[in-house]
Amino acid sequence: MASIIEKRLSLHKRLAEHQQQNKSLKSQIIQLQALADIGGATCMIAHEINNLLTPLVSYAELALKNPDDKPLAEKAFEKVVRNCERASKIMESMLAVGNGQTQKKENARLISLVEEVFTCLCRDFTKDGITVEIQIPRDLTIRAIPVQIQHVLMNLILNARYAMLPGGGILTIKAQEITGAVQIQVADTGSGIEPANLKKIFEPFFTTKPNKELTSDHLSCGLGLAFCKRIIDEHNGTISVESQPSIGTIFKITLPTENHKFST
Ligand SMILES: Nc1ncnc2c1ncn2[C@@H]1O[C@H](COP(=O)(O)OP(=O)(O)OP(=O)(O)O)[C@@H](O)[C@H]1O
Ligand SMILES: [Mg+2]
Repeated sequence: MASIIEKRLSLHKRLAEHQQQNKSLKSQIIQLQALADIGGATCMIAHEINNLLTPLVSYAELALKNPDDKPLAEKAFEKVVRNCERASKIMESMLAVGNGQTQKKENARLISLVEEVFTCLCRDFTKDGITVEIQIPRDLTIRAIPVQIQHVLMNLILNARYAMLPGGGILTIKAQEITGAVQIQVADTGSGIEPANLKKIFEPFFTTKPNKELTSDHLSCGLGLAFCKRIIDEHNGTISVESQPSIGTIFKITLPTENHKFST
């Protein structure tokens, strides 16, 4: 009888120990998940800051080589200010996330976001033989975290530009309101994507770009589209792609409109 009681007590003790271990493992998983999220966010900031810094270095180098060209120097300074402002917005936005604050969506005029992205890109598309066509109604607004949607647009535009080099082509950015959502399209007439690669392009670290080559400006690590997907998912939207090798590529995004009115 005594041994049965002892056995039961020992089983209870072991059960309590396992439950304790379970609890501690669960809290470790939560901590590891938080660290993984911070790692992902850090990568995302680094990727985006890189996109902003690369053209600034080119501008600054050009201005240094032409010390008598005052308008060029002024333009370079203007780009430095704009891109630093954007870098600071990105930092603010990430610090807010780090502090556990949820970022609020705002009503934003899409055309202004797109124009700002082109300013930050600091690249003369016409010099690369690329015609940019923007077909966005001036009063079209989206409900979004603006800095994040600009991140998406910047990555799609940079990919489209790369795909059209060196021959040039047409980059079209369109948007329209459909029932319950705004649909945005970024289309290019570039190299297109091989069918076998289409399902891989949103995976982190998938890239077909050689490391560090002239046309890419920076080290491509295959993170751009993975971040775009993450951002659009967090906005409860969708992102999809259609592409034909040697013809071009279209990225389509839908963002739910919710109930919003734009106020200036
Ligand atoms: N518009 C496009 N035309 C052709 N291929 C594209 C286009 N957009 C993306 N791709 C393909 O998808 C891959 C993944 O794109 P993604 O933006 O995630 O990474 P990346 O551009 O290679 O590197 P990173 O964005 O980190 O600089 C690209 O390497 C390219 O093969
Ligand atoms: Mg990219």
